[in-house]
Amino acid sequence: MMIVAEGLEKSYKSGGRPLPVLRSLDLSIEAESFVSIVGPSGSGKTTLLGLLAGLDEPSSGRVLLDGEDIFDLSEDGRAAFRAERVGFVFQTFHLLPTLSALENVLVPLELRGEVAGAQEVAAALLERVGLGGRLDHFPAQLSGGEQQRVALARAFSNRPKILFADEPTGNLDQETGASIVEMMEELNHEGGTTLVLVTHDLSLAERADRVLTLGGGRVAEDRPGRGAL
Ligand SMILES: Nc1ncnc2c1ncn2[C@@H]1O[C@H](COP(=O)(O)OP(=O)(O)OP(=O)(O)O)[C@@H](O)[C@H]1O
Ligand SMILES: [Mg+2]
Repeated sequence: MMIVAEGLEKSYKSGGRPLPVLRSLDLSIEAESFVSIVGPSGSGKTTLLGLLAGLDEPSSGRVLLDGEDIFDLSEDGRAAFRAERVGFVFQTFHLLPTLSALENVLVPLELRGEVAGAQEVAAALLERVGLGGRLDHFPAQLSGGEQQRVALARAFSNRPKILFADEPTGNLDQETGASIVEMMEELNHEGGTTLVLVTHDLSLAERADRVLTLGGGRVAEDRPGRGAL
């Protein structure tokens, strides 16, 4: 298994009271598979993805990524693990505002110390997402969908073993969205990347091997997607 969550709990504090979002959630995701997660707004999809990627700490429970208990690692150890093996596309992009599109895509490569050819790799990825003519634009000079595509190019740049994508096509027109999904599927098939996709788009979710439905703080349903057939 590439991703295992055991007894995962997450509560936020809301007006002094605990607000439970995930309740003793268990899941396992096989290496090199493509799994999508659906569920209503507020059901905890972004929360779950943040925990699975080790970006946020659970109230209790554990997460194993590629056999590593990530909350046993120090914060620095976790950051290094992520830089090495994990790509993340945030629902709200999280691009660095003072860096150009090209520089944003270069960040993960620089974190890994990959310097030779990095500019070419980053430029080619931006080309792939249709932004070859926007390399020097800053995030504020890009449309929402363009920022989303820079975030995707950035997540792909270190060829991660695991890619988490939170509504990566939420701001894109159908055609651009479809080409982005094809790119993710290619990474999944050819690069052997384990792909975890959160989406409200059911036709997109169905392309996965498995569709997990989040509800009541747990994975309420697990059904095969079209990718499994
Ligand atoms: N930092 C926080 N502090 C307090 N409550 C939070 C925090 N982050 C999320 N929540 C609450 O946790 C719940 C789950 O939020 P989450 O963002 O995981 O939902 P989601 O399933 O991703 O929704 P959407 O489909 O709208 O993106 C929501 O009710 C939200 O209000
Ligand atoms: Mg969300």
